[in-house]
Order: sequence, then structure tokens, then C-alpha cells
Amino acid sequence: MTQHKLIEMTRSLVAHGEADTMEYADEVVRIPVSSYTDPQLFEREKKQIFKRLPLMVAPSCELPEPGDYKAMDICGVPLLLTRQKDGTVAAFLNMCTHRGNPIAEGIGNASRFLCGYHGWTFKNNGELLGVASPQDFGKIDKAAHCLTRFPCYESAGLIWATLDPKSKLDIADYLCGYDELLSAFGFENWHLFSQRTLPGPNWKTAYDGYLDFYHLPVLHKDTFGADFYNRANYFAFGPHQRLSTPTKFAVKVQSDDDQQIDLTQIADEDLSYEVLVQGVWTIFPHISIASFYGGGLRGAMISQLFPGSEVGESFTTQYYVMEQEPDDEAKIKAAHEQFDFLEIVVRDEDYKTGKRQHEALQSGMMEHVLFGRNEKGGQVFHQWVDKLVNASDDDLQGIFRREMAEAAE
Ligand code: FES
Ligand SMILES: [Fe+2]
Repeated sequence: MTQHKLIEMTRSLVAHGEADTMEYADEVVRIPVSSYTDPQLFEREKKQIFKRLPLMVAPSCELPEPGDYKAMDICGVPLLLTRQKDGTVAAFLNMCTHRGNPIAEGIGNASRFLCGYHGWTFKNNGELLGVASPQDFGKIDKAAHCLTRFPCYESAGLIWATLDPKSKLDIADYLCGYDELLSAFGFENWHLFSQRTLPGPNWKTAYDGYLDFYHLPVLHKDTFGADFYNRANYFAFGPHQRLSTPTKFAVKVQSDDDQQIDLTQIADEDLSYEVLVQGVWTIFPHISIASFYGGGLRGAMISQLFPGSEVGESFTTQYYVMEQEPDDEAKIKAAHEQFDFLEIVVRDEDYKTGKRQHEALQSGMMEHVLFGRNEKGGQVFHQWVDKLVNASDDDLQGIFRREMAEAAE
């Protein structure tokens, strides 16, 4: 099914490229400026989207070994991810059940955690192992004071968690089969080369840019965009969207001289997986994945966006993952250069523009922004944000079961 679907998408891109056409949205859509600037809406988005829907919290290769853990903070919620003895990943509220102190910080490897405040200990499967000075503390039911567990799901070399311990939304349903397609990358066998976190503008202003090829040859003309097409076709799987250029060519980048391949001349079974997954893969509400070659090795940048504390702030963690670990100095240097280049593009072009745009929108002098018929991805993204911000907890399951059923048809 995965291979078939990927081929079908590629053939559609090639046919559009040959005919010099693209897929259009039905109409130009207006989005109220308040959708980017209203602090109350921003708080609702954090509550209804980030604290209620599954989020891609880490690539699997960030926690490859049993005992590996990562602590992070998402919209004020302290999260602890641990890889268990059996190889599965678990997600917990990173708060000691004594008085709430976070029991872990950063990343590391541990089979148990000692709370730094009074010394309670927890296993990395969340069990409360020991109360400090139990004879003095008084009797409590240890089994009832384990770490709070969040729903967690690992697939396609990526880890999702839902920051609502009572969530009834099945994470696989939420993904609408998209993770099966993502599995074509084989991320479960990749390596985390480097990562960093950048400040950015409002999370939706920032995310709009990841769903947009229209800006590539203009905003990025001095870095990589000068020769890029500004067209993208969108493939939606529930709220998750892949975007890719409608073209019949694929650039062969494994050799030094970039050579174009005419895909109309290649049989389906000979299409390489690099061709089948080209473009940008976004995972609602906050992930973008783009892959490329750097210094002869295949890499991908996974960008993970979170709202900041104010409506005009976000931060983005960029994970640079590689199919093979670079094993000599030249390759390591090339990979660093590629990653540094991507930081510059995002920081000095996308986010710098997003910050200026946001400040201008804050003036209150404009009521709507526009998404053209060629900007279907942005239209679809904003429709989903709207729908999910306003959905009740009980609606969520139904919404994604319907999407799942449609995707299966
Ligand atoms: S808060 Fe953790 S031991 Fe007291
Ligand atoms: Fe950009």
C-alpha cells in the first residue's frame, strides 16, 4: 500500500509537470489577522491543540538505547520520554508525585530517577520505587503514586505523545495512515547528527512557511531558492500534508554534477525511494521534514515547532538526522556545513520575515491575509486548526475515525 501510494503521488506530480499544471484550491481564502495576533485564541490553541492532540516529540534515534531518556517542556507541561528495557518508549508527566518537582532534566541514560528535592526514586517505567525515610513519611500506597503516564506511540522512526493522560484519541487513528508513508524514509535506522533550537514568530506564521513553495524563489533567492519552482501540489492525509513540486524531473544529487532524470522514462519499479519521498512532509500541527544530500550522505531536517509564551513567539527544534553516521572528518564537516546553512536560511530568511510580518500584523491595520489557489496547504492547515480548536474532547475520536475510513477507501 505504501509503495503503491508513493508511486501514485509521484506519477501525479510527473503528469502535472509534463502538462505544466498544478492542483489548485477552489478559491482564494481570507484568514482573519486576529488568527495570528489574538492572545486569547493563542491560549486556546495551546490548550486545544498542543495539550490535547498527539505531538511528534522526538525522532526515535534521539533515544536509541534502553534507558535513554529525554525531558522537555511543551507549552508549560514537563514531559519525560524513556526507552524501556523491552525497547518500547513511554511518556510521562515529568513531575515527582511527592510535591511535583521534575525528576529528570535534559537527555541521558538511566534505569531509575532520583528526585532532587527529597529523594524519592522512580523506575524508568514510571513506578515509584522508594519514598525517602519511609518510616517518618507515613504510609502511602506506592502503586497509586507512579508517574502519570501519557499516551505514546512510536512508528516510522518517530515518537508521538499526547499530553492528556485521559485522551481517548488513538494516535494511529490521528495519523490517518500517514506514518506508513513516512516509514519509506526508514528513519528507525537513521542517526541523530545534531540538533538546535531557534526562536521564531507566532507558531502559525512560522508554520505557514513550511507549507509554502510560493515564496522559495523570492525570499530564498540568495541562498537556495533562485532556481526553485514556486509551485507545490499537496497530498492530505487528515490534517497531515506532504507538498512536492509538480515536475517530471528528479535531480540526481548523488554524483558531483547534478544531473536531471526524466521520470517519464523510468518504470514504476525503478523509481528510487529518494524520488518517491521528495518534497516536504508536514505532520500536523507542528512538524516539517525535508530530506537532501549533504557531502555525499543522505540527511533530513526534522523541524519541530512549539508555541512560545507570548502570541508572537515560537521556538523550533531542528533535528538533523542522517541515514549513515558520517565516519570521516570531511563528511562530518560537510554535514555541519549543511546543517549550519539550513539554520541560516530559517533564522535569517524565514523567521526574520515572519517576525517582521507579525509585528506589522500587530498594528491592527489589516483585517485579513490571503491564501491563493496555489497555497492550498496553508488553507488546509488553517481550516484544521479552526476545526480542532473548536472540537469538543468527544468529537476528536469521531473526526479522526472518519478521516481514517476515508483514507482507507
Ligand atoms: S518533590 Fe520529589 S521527593 Fe519531594
Ligand atoms: Fe522558507
